[in-house]
Amino acid sequence: MGGVSTSPRHPGSPDTDAPADAPSGTGTDAPAAAAGHGSPAVPAVPAADPDRVARLRAALLAAGFTADGLLELLGGPAYSALARSETVPALRATRGGGPLPTLVRLFLLQQSVPASRAAAVLPLDDALADGWLVGEGAADEAGSVRATVDIRPYGGPDGQDWWIVADLGCAVGGAGGIGARHEDVVLGVGGASTTLAGITVRKPVARALDLGTGSGIQALHAAQHATRVTATDVNPRALAFTRLTLALSGAPGADLREGSLFEPVEGEEPYDLIVSNPPFVIAPQAAPAEGDAAGRLTYREGGMSGDDLCRTLVERAGEHLADGGYCQLLANWEHREGEDWQERLRSWVPAGCDAWIVQREVQDIAQYAELWLRDAGDHLAGRDVYEARYAAWLDEFEQRGTTAVGFGWITLRKSGAERPHVQVEEWPHPVEQPLGEEVEGHFARQDFLRDTDDAALLDLHFRLADEVVQEQVGMPGAEDPEHVVLRQNRGMRRASKVDTVGAGFAGVCDGSLPAGRILDAIAQLVGEDPVILRDRTPEAIRLLVGQGFLRPVPDAD
Ligand SMILES: C[S@@+](CC[C@H](N)C(=O)[O-])C[C@H]1O[C@@H](n2cnc3c(N)ncnc32)[C@H](O)[C@@H]1O
Repeated sequence: MGGVSTSPRHPGSPDTDAPADAPSGTGTDAPAAAAGHGSPAVPAVPAADPDRVARLRAALLAAGFTADGLLELLGGPAYSALARSETVPALRATRGGGPLPTLVRLFLLQQSVPASRAAAVLPLDDALADGWLVGEGAADEAGSVRATVDIRPYGGPDGQDWWIVADLGCAVGGAGGIGARHEDVVLGVGGASTTLAGITVRKPVARALDLGTGSGIQALHAAQHATRVTATDVNPRALAFTRLTLALSGAPGADLREGSLFEPVEGEEPYDLIVSNPPFVIAPQAAPAEGDAAGRLTYREGGMSGDDLCRTLVERAGEHLADGGYCQLLANWEHREGEDWQERLRSWVPAGCDAWIVQREVQDIAQYAELWLRDAGDHLAGRDVYEARYAAWLDEFEQRGTTAVGFGWITLRKSGAERPHVQVEEWPHPVEQPLGEEVEGHFARQDFLRDTDDAALLDLHFRLADEVVQEQVGMPGAEDPEHVVLRQNRGMRRASKVDTVGAGFAGVCDGSLPAGRILDAIAQLVGEDPVILRDRTPEAIRLLVGQGFLRPVPDAD
């Protein structure tokens, strides 16, 4: 991701024990609805008058209320503390007043500020009339105002100054305290949002769909490279927030549609890109106990049993993809007793689509239940209520024979291939975002391998990818290494164990000789029959090409 942002849950962030790809609401100490998730008062969403939003945007920019400006104002420690939902350092750093501190207090720290101060930074009358702010106390500049929504500065990939509008207290994982969340609360940007934005293939396309748009972050990214963006959500508040996020960020408006899953785009032209950070949490369907007000939180639960929502999304995506189009989503999936999780996921992939599915993390069912109980604030609900709710999660997992839950990324590409390439793998190690180009490269490499038989492979020239290093592992002082590992320092940061022939082969791949000739030379060197070596090595070469260690050199002779 470009720029800096205030995400409390950047993927890989060490400051949370939530999975890197958890939906936006996940925070170990995120304040939330304590006893029940419901709260009857659903605040209104500000109006999106284009001219007045443009003036608000100009005011935010003029005050330096940007991701970079925020970091500069707060300094590293307070900035990082805010990212952990700790507001005290940021409150201290903004005590002095001035335009930027005023905006930070209003839109990120949920503080009241004197109306006269707000008027010095913002078009106050418009902001009050459109509902961005509400007045407190005297109805003039002697009174004070507070914000009705969070506005979070967010740096775009090319240095753009963007803002994500979300429900109050939700921009930075509940900084300032949400109190009680209503069922349809719309969250800001979380680790899952930035993970998906980072892995998305960013090539120019005609039509993009953001399914489950929330506060609009994926639609905002898609608007940079798609001629037309459709954003859907089952929650009409989310669509209203997306409209504000796009307008405030100066992006073209999206076609906003209310409805569940693909329902709002049924019968429409297919899409070149579908992205979704869906409500993937696998929560119990039954009420935990009689009289318990625990409700569904729309941002994280789709109301279907087990992982049916993610499965349905994947299975149905093929119908809505244009030829060559990508569908990229985050998902949770169950590991069930007596079933191979990889086979389960393979069975979801629709006909005519290649797929790359990466499991980034696995949690046992107790860890998983605790994570989401805390996300909803159930740990604050009193011992008995908490235990009943916890038991409800375990009951349903046990009924389905669920032993663990996987978190990860699913990418489909509509290739129309008769024998689609479906790769399901576990890669829990750190990666280097953004990975969009790597995702596109993955599918291009699979096409190449599908179209190239072993004889043709040996006639081709290869080059070792940049940033690949060789590691030798063995006992100190030993003459020969026990094994050799090739390691990428970019992208997926893969590591691949190779034998001495593989290491030697990769080491001389500079594009100048065909693979077969290199193998003949190695055979001579190690005293092996070249015919046998030519016969057995293509499998290893395929693996290295498939993982991006070796790149075919086009048009080499
Ligand atoms: C985890 S949030 C993702 C928000 C945003 N796209 C992001 O990346 O941060 C999931 C969104 O899906 C929406 N949603 C829930 N159930 C849905 C359904 N059945 N169909 C479509 N959207 C749904 C929620 O309202 C919420 O806005």
